[in-house]
This record gives sequence, structure tokens and C-alpha cells, in this order.
Amino acid sequence: MCGIVGYIGEKRAHPVLLNSLGKLEYRGYDSCGIAVSAGGIEVYKDAVRVKALEKALSPLEGMIGIGHTRWATHGEPSKVNAHPHCDCTGRIAVVHNGIINNFQRLREQLASEGHILSSHTDTEVIPHLIEKYYDGDLEKAVELALRDIEGSYAIIVLMADEPKLVAARKDSPLIIGIGDRENFIASDVPAILDYTSRVIYLEDGDMAVITADNIEVKRDGAEVTREEHKILWSVKDAQKGGYEHFMLKEIHEQPKVIRDTLAEYISAAEPAADLAVAGGSGLEDMLILACGTSYHAALIGKYIIEGLVKIPVRVELASEFNYSGQASARNKAIVITQSGETADALKAIKRLKKEGCQVIAITNVVGSTASRIADQTVYTRAGPEMSVAATKSFVAQLIALYWLALPYSRVDVRRLDDLVMELRQLPVKVQRVLDNEAAILDCARQLSEFENVFYIGRGINYPIALEGALKLKEISYIHAEGYAAGELKHGPFALLGSGMPVVAIVAQDNTYEAMLTTLKEIKARQSPVLALVGEGDGNVEGLADWVITVPQVDPMFSSVVNAVVLQLLAYHVAKQRGCPIDFPRNLAKSVTVE
Ligand code: AGP
Repeated sequence: MCGIVGYIGEKRAHPVLLNSLGKLEYRGYDSCGIAVSAGGIEVYKDAVRVKALEKALSPLEGMIGIGHTRWATHGEPSKVNAHPHCDCTGRIAVVHNGIINNFQRLREQLASEGHILSSHTDTEVIPHLIEKYYDGDLEKAVELALRDIEGSYAIIVLMADEPKLVAARKDSPLIIGIGDRENFIASDVPAILDYTSRVIYLEDGDMAVITADNIEVKRDGAEVTREEHKILWSVKDAQKGGYEHFMLKEIHEQPKVIRDTLAEYISAAEPAADLAVAGGSGLEDMLILACGTSYHAALIGKYIIEGLVKIPVRVELASEFNYSGQASARNKAIVITQSGETADALKAIKRLKKEGCQVIAITNVVGSTASRIADQTVYTRAGPEMSVAATKSFVAQLIALYWLALPYSRVDVRRLDDLVMELRQLPVKVQRVLDNEAAILDCARQLSEFENVFYIGRGINYPIALEGALKLKEISYIHAEGYAAGELKHGPFALLGSGMPVVAIVAQDNTYEAMLTTLKEIKARQSPVLALVGEGDGNVEGLADWVITVPQVDPMFSSVVNAVVLQLLAYHVAKQRGCPIDFPRNLAKSVTVE
């Protein structure tokens, strides 16, 4: 997810472009660039934040330009990979938000036709395709170029000596801001709100030709009308997409995040990563290391890989492994880190490699240190996560682990087909959890009265109990502990009573009966119970004070829907208590010190 902008009017373009880009950095901030046309095209870009680029720039002429702030997906953050990208002549410049799935093939084809591409990005094929088809009509050339592209895109095209911008979208957002003798184009409204509140939303398949005093929207070559809207939000609100907090926005992005992460893997012909141990007899055993929320994903990875691939999986806290863990070259290791910069995780990667281990990094940040020092990298496609509390990145990590294991699974073909089908339906199931937010809010009101809470789960939902407790701790400052349900009677039972509520994940799997027994034991000790139960489950009546129903899913995937419920629960408890949800005290989004 990147941010793109365009300006055409009577003002000098570069201050407008930089100001608008600054408002879109929540969409990506690992590199940025602008291109301004004053006859010829001038491009300024680098692997820096917008403010730094602004400092480095002297005033530019030109009242038409485009800009980009990046969240790298293909090609790590660097000057050459930053946008805008140009064609061989340097007369066509393009900024792009999205992913071009067939870029490799297009690159080879263009290279065979004499085009020289200098970056590692997917985007760079676009200006070269436009150059290939250009015969005096920029619009036509863009239309033909887009026909060759498979994937998602929002693009803005600038051409030397052309007093217009051409923009188009498919599966990535793009809006036009209407001004007085000037017009603006952007990925999202925060970019244009300093200049206008009059907006047109382009739809998938739309192409627009924008001049300083005209906007023409076309679809399949025919002109179409798009309704004008008046934006009433402040810039800050708009960056959150109208949500009160980034965390709530990111929780609601999860159906799309699951689709994007799946799309990435499904379109790739080969498995997400090679799990086989080089020189070994294929799959032997696996070691997974991580910290915090990523560690909880690792614990679920153990259930997934052991359940599907039938090999032993060892999971360790990276911070502990660094001082006591054992590893050997026989091992294949996975290190999970959203930011790719967590010191404990990086130290573990270096140690594993020193001991001859092959390391797969699962990370959300292209170009992060983890992605550079690991042997293989599997990217989650959660986009930038602004809230300190990890939510969408956690669910994206689970999808990555499912996809990593499926090609190696030793279950029968029919079961495999069912699992893939269920995985594709997960976005719909997660959306149903989000649609049930009001019920979760009711339970949160109850829970927000307490200072201590236990979370319990069994099997693949035991790590979800740990994650639920971590989320509550992080953002509501309530003391919460997650336990394997069977462990309560070995000590924590001593704390049960009317002041200690228990959040119980009652999944419809082989742990169901044991979970019901545990609920009876807890009720016998007067603790209030909030139970997460499958739709249509009537057996928990009388055993729980508050109930949240979750959509029926295959037990292998129940951790995903339950995780989203507990994210929303923690969010609403913290909101009830007036906590600074996105930036809780004493925490950082990426812990870069040991
Ligand atoms: C989770 O909400 C926290 N932000 C924290 O536990 C985090 O998961 C941990 O610091 C690991 O971060 P990483 O995934 O970026 O390595």
C-alpha cells in the first residue's frame, strides 16, 4: 500500500505534491519521490521520508507533477526503486500503487524489445509499455499498456509537453480533488483536504484525463459521469479512514488483508518458501522463533505444520533462544517478525545462520533487515500497521503459515481441497465477525469494570488466549493472563472468584468437551465467564455470563476468527477506559533494542 498524488494548476506543483505526500505517509514511508514537468520532466526521489526530500529540494518550476510515498512490495527501499519511474526517453513518468502480478514476463518481453529497465520493481514496466504504444496519443498508449497488465493498480502518468495528467485504477483506490483552475489526484482524501473538499471517487476500470480546468472520466473508451462528494472530515480523521483509531481501522482491514496475502501466494506458481532442508531427506523438523504477537503466531504455526505436514515443530522465544536455545544445520528455521527490525529476532537469525541453519523470515516490511539477512523471505501483505498493537499483521502471519504448510501437507487430497476452499472463504467469515461488533462492545463494557482477567483456550486456540491477553494488557492496562485451559487447575484456580473474569474460547473441535468441563469448574468458583462459541452452540447456556458467537469455520482456521473477536474486545475495553489506544505508554511498534 503506497500513496500517490498528482497536481495540475496555476501553483508551483512541488510544494503541493510534497504537502499531499506528507499526509499519505500512513500508507507507506520507506521512500518517496516527485516528478515535475516544465517542458521536460525533472524527477527527484530517494529512500527517505517526505520531510527529508523536501529539505533536499530547491524550488522547482512547473505547475504539473506527480508524487509517491512508498510501501515496498517488489524491490527493497532504495533510490532506484523509489517512484516515479520513467521510460527510456525520460519523457514519461509514472507513479503506481498496487501489485503487477505478471511483471516478470513483461520485463523479459520489454527487454527483448530493447527497453532498459534499471529497478527491481514491478511498476517500472508501466512507463516502458506506455512508451511502446505511444504514437502521439498519450491516453491511447496508457489504455493499451493497461491491457497488458495483470494485477492491481492506481496510476498517474505525466508526459513532457503534455498539459494533462492521465490516471487509472483497478483494485486500488484513487480520487480526484476538484479545485478552481486546478485539480488534484490522490490515493486518499487526506492528501487533498488542505486544498479542496470537493472529491470524485474513481471506480475500478475508470481512466481519467485531468487538465487544470477539466476532468474527463472514461470507461472502455466511453465517457462516464462520476458523482461529486463533499468531504467533512479533518485530515487526521481521514488518515484513519473515518475510524477513531488506527487500530480499529486496521482490524476492519483484515478481510482485504487476507485476500491480498492469499492473492500473492495463489498467483505464485511455486510454494511460498522451500521448507525442505538442503541435503536433508526433505522435511525433518522445524524451529520457529519470534517475539510478542509474532511469537503467538509461531505457536499457531506449530499446530498448522504439525497438523498438516506431520513433522515436529519447536517454537521458542527469540529472546530466550539467543541465550540458551540449541540449533543445528539439520534445522530449517522460520523467524517471524512484522517489522523485520526487532533486535531479538535479528540476533536469532544471525545466530541460526552462524550455526549453518537455513532461515526463512516471515515479515511485513520489504527491505527490512530481516528480509535482507534471511535466506528466504515470505512477505505478509498487511500494509503499514500504524497502531502499536499488532492486529492485521498477526492475521496475515497466520495466512502465511497456512500457505507455507499446505504444499507440503500429508493429508488426503479431498481434505486439502476443503482446506483451500475454506481459506478462500475466510475473508467472508472475518467480515461477519466485524459485523457483529455491537455484541462484542456489550461484553467489553462488562469486562472494562475489572482490573484482572484470565483468557483460556485449548489446542490451536491456546495461543489465541495468549494473544487476547496481550492485546488487553497492551492497550487497556488491565492485568491479563492467557492460559492453556487445562493449566488453570494447576495453580491459577486460586485466583478465581467474582473479581476475576475468564474469557474462554470454546471451539467446535476435539477440545470441546474438555472446555465445557473447565467452564463448569470455573463457574463453581464464582468467576464471571465470557465465552466465544460457535454459531448455534446451545451447550454453553448457563455456563457463561456473556457469550460472543463466532462463524463456523474448519477447526484448523478457528484461530483467525477468534483472534479478530479478541482484538475488537480489547479495543472496546480500552476505549471504555479512555486509553491512548494507538500509542500505549511504554511501548514501541518495533523494539530495536535487546
Ligand atoms: C504486539 O502488539 C506488539 N506490538 C509486540 O508484542 C510485537 O508483536 C513484538 O514487539 C514483535 O514485533 P515484530 O513482529 O515486529 O518482530
